[in-house]
Amino acid sequence: MVEKLEKLLAVKDISKSYVGVQALDRVSLSINRGEIHCLVGENGSGKSTLIKIISGVVKPDEGEIIINGKRFQSLHAIDSISEGIQVIYQDLSLFPNLSIAENISLNQMIERKKRFISWKEIKNIAEREFSNISKELDLDEKVENISIANKQLVAICRALTQDAQLIIMDEPTTAITKREIDCLFSVILDLKKRGISTLFVSHKLSEVLQISNKVTVIRDGKLVGVYNTEGLDHNTLSFYMSGKKIVDSVLDYREKEGQKEPLLEVKNLSKKGNFQDINFKVCSGEIVGITGILGSGRTEIALSLFGLNRPDSGEIYIDGKLAKIKSPQDAIELGLSYLPEDRLNQGLFIKQSIGNNIVVTILQRLLNRFKLFDNSKKYEAAKEWIEELNVITPSLETAAQALSGGNQQRVVIAKWLATDPKVFILNGPTVGIDVASKSNIHNIIKGLANKGMGVIIISDEIPEIIWNCNRIIVIREGRIVKKLNTNEVTEDKLLDILARKSN
Ligand SMILES: Nc1ncnc2c1ncn2[C@@H]1O[C@H](COP(=O)(O)OP(=O)(O)OP(=O)(O)O)[C@@H](O)[C@H]1O
Ligand SMILES: [Mg+2]
Repeated sequence: MVEKLEKLLAVKDISKSYVGVQALDRVSLSINRGEIHCLVGENGSGKSTLIKIISGVVKPDEGEIIINGKRFQSLHAIDSISEGIQVIYQDLSLFPNLSIAENISLNQMIERKKRFISWKEIKNIAEREFSNISKELDLDEKVENISIANKQLVAICRALTQDAQLIIMDEPTTAITKREIDCLFSVILDLKKRGISTLFVSHKLSEVLQISNKVTVIRDGKLVGVYNTEGLDHNTLSFYMSGKKIVDSVLDYREKEGQKEPLLEVKNLSKKGNFQDINFKVCSGEIVGITGILGSGRTEIALSLFGLNRPDSGEIYIDGKLAKIKSPQDAIELGLSYLPEDRLNQGLFIKQSIGNNIVVTILQRLLNRFKLFDNSKKYEAAKEWIEELNVITPSLETAAQALSGGNQQRVVIAKWLATDPKVFILNGPTVGIDVASKSNIHNIIKGLANKGMGVIIISDEIPEIIWNCNRIIVIREGRIVKKLNTNEVTEDKLLDILARKSN
């Protein structure tokens, strides 16, 4: 047997440009066996592009890739897979209507070109891989019925059946709970023990510092440096990423008082299996945080306010008047906007231009008196928000799918701000957003509240809630378990309340 080289992967001087954008400019990166390597950089810095090059989805303009000592000018996806590189994509590419066992074993069965796939064999393969990872799941369960975190584990197991040497994950922790992140990390550490490497992209620097051995930082498509995680801290890392010292939250919202007249009032809102007896108010100028772990009912409540999840009972008042909200259209007309949690699927028309995406919610207003679409107005509205939110794009005509993940997110925020809502509900407003832009978006939200908007931030990120909201509502198992003024609570105390099983 050939002895395995210590170095698994090296990319050297990789460049890639798209029309009008130099996505990568002579970037190098190398990964050893059993190493946990994080790739960090601001939105649009080129992380996903680099991953696509390593996995053979995108062809670089220049540079070379060396895997297991073999040199490639560019890779095909097949080369990449046969050299042991496996990407866990954000959509996870699983078959929802097949069982966990089938999903894990499918590739192997196809590879062996078996005409008859024996159920026993499927189970054996799946059990072998899964026993190393998690013991709690029923392998016969259909994948559509399991959580995102478990789907991730299934995708990892499937990768392992294909002899993965390097598992690549692009922002795997954005949609999973703290406990699930811990589980994922322990799996990654186990892989490390087996000599399997992980390349990991995350904007959550605390995670990066917790899990990685090495960090590669890129900025504007250029390599900033490669660092040992030991000896790095949050501030240094965000400085490397942005080249700036980040001053978070200039405007402290903790002590701020809202007006007395509520813009939005929710009374006894209930929906069986979702939430029970929800009561709260949001006044003009106020930012109310709704927090609770994933699955607590926080999103279901927001969906009900926005006409997407009909409650069984209870009332919603807007400006003191009973509101009948049967659809998002009703909600928008009454002055509500909702930034959804799952932006990739719910937020954007991915093939449409950025300009069109932003103005889609305000088409009515843009029709001129002859009911024709006024293009110049369209661009005024879109341009204003693009600048305000700092979306990095060559033009408004660019298709949304050509933007980096974080910039797509800003486009969705821009789209909802363009409706000029009275109350803006933001579900996970900074998921996937880099540290510098995060504080930028927080400041924009605070600026909107200062101008009189009522804001609801739904988030399980404690600092986000504490530093931006004046009041906090904690949800657990569909019920409000605590209402707090932010100035009475510390990060630790709030974390404690969130983590508690019962009161
Ligand atoms: N298919 C494409 N067509 C045109 N431009 C593209 C395409 N894919 C990426 N880009 C551009 O390349 C740059 C790098 O994008 P990339 O998606 O790699 O960023 P990223 O570091 O992953 O950012 P994020 O943290 O926001 O996900 C961006 O300016 C992006 O707009
Ligand atoms: Mg990305």
